[in-house]
Amino acid sequence: MGAGTLPLLGADAADTDDPATDESAKSDKKATASAETKTNMSEPVNVADFQRLAESRMQHATYNYITTGSADEITLRDNVEAFRRMKVFPPLLKGVSKADLSTTVLNRRIDMPILLAPVAAQRMFHPEGALATARAAAAAKTVFAVSSSVGHSVEEVARAATGPKWFQIYVPKDRAVARQLVERVDQAGYEAIIVTVDLGEWKDADRRDRFALPKEMLVKHLRDVGYTQVTNEMSNEEVQAFNAQAWEISLSWDFFDWLRSITKTPLLIKGVLRKDDAEKAVSLGIDGIVVSNHGGRRLDGMPASIEMLPDIVEAVKGRAEVYMDGGIRRGTDVLKALALGARGVLVGRPYAWALGADGEAGVRKVLALLREEFENAMVSTGCSKIADINRSLLMS
Ligand code: FNR
Repeated sequence: MGAGTLPLLGADAADTDDPATDESAKSDKKATASAETKTNMSEPVNVADFQRLAESRMQHATYNYITTGSADEITLRDNVEAFRRMKVFPPLLKGVSKADLSTTVLNRRIDMPILLAPVAAQRMFHPEGALATARAAAAAKTVFAVSSSVGHSVEEVARAATGPKWFQIYVPKDRAVARQLVERVDQAGYEAIIVTVDLGEWKDADRRDRFALPKEMLVKHLRDVGYTQVTNEMSNEEVQAFNAQAWEISLSWDFFDWLRSITKTPLLIKGVLRKDDAEKAVSLGIDGIVVSNHGGRRLDGMPASIEMLPDIVEAVKGRAEVYMDGGIRRGTDVLKALALGARGVLVGRPYAWALGADGEAGVRKVLALLREEFENAMVSTGCSKIADINRSLLMS
């Protein structure tokens, strides 16, 4: 796989592990099963429990695909650890016993500022894939940001998603295909388009595991985005070769002008870490910025997203909405990000693990847990509504 290979991964790996013959997965499962008994894993009470449950239930290479990061995983770890280093500093006796978590994103009211990040290949995690995720997000009354590599078509997800949904686009190199895709996204009722600009994953574990979509899923994916010339009659090598050249991997800023010329839907840019890039995005009229390093899956050594958030908020000066993702594992992390000026946070791995562990019920549960933890964090810091959250709640 080249660093720019999009969207899935391992274009040079032809075969996917068969769960039935994966001995290491079996022994992993045994080990975790005994751990499960000790920690009563049938009732996950936090994101980490869902991670352990996913590890015990999922096929090894697929679990690794979700969980691991790029190269030495410095950025992956730092995303999480940067939150741990930050301290909450609650004022006392504020007389708050419950909190209203609702907010607005791009003028749409949602029940909590915790959104579901675009995550590819969800049919590998659970047979219902993104359809299960869409239903769980709708039940939580929050935004599902759907990856263009999610494994179901724009329309299939839209039918399952009765709640607000955004579409994250990896750009087909064929601009006619790209244009049609955007038109379908608009028609299907997606309320925003996220352009992910930090392209290409580079993960040792996926190369070691030879993780790749099975041919049938890759064919469906390519056809779903509009490459209808790809068929099941083609060999696996032919499909992989087609995929390797199907995506725009050298985007530049003028792409946003083109996109703006074909759609009126609000646009977000995902993958921003630098002030100058944020300023450029604002100057182009982009509606929202997602501060992100792709969950530490792309270029190792980049800073933790939460550490760059204050810079971006300062540069944007309220001219666009600012979101962040990377390393959110607890309700207190959500509070910290909002205290530093994020309008909302996106979570990736937490719900991917939950989907792998227990399908729609898992995603519902992990969202409910994060919600409860965040409400507890608000009440404990004397915040009865989102607007009460501010920087004074953090130790500087
Ligand atoms: C991702 N991410 C991602 N981002 C994107 O823009 N398009 C995509 O298709 C994917 N696919 C994907 C697959 C998997 C398995 C993961 C874990 C992540 C990145 C994602 O949107 C988000 O930036 C990170 O997941 C946030 O970090 P946490 O919450 O996983 O720590």
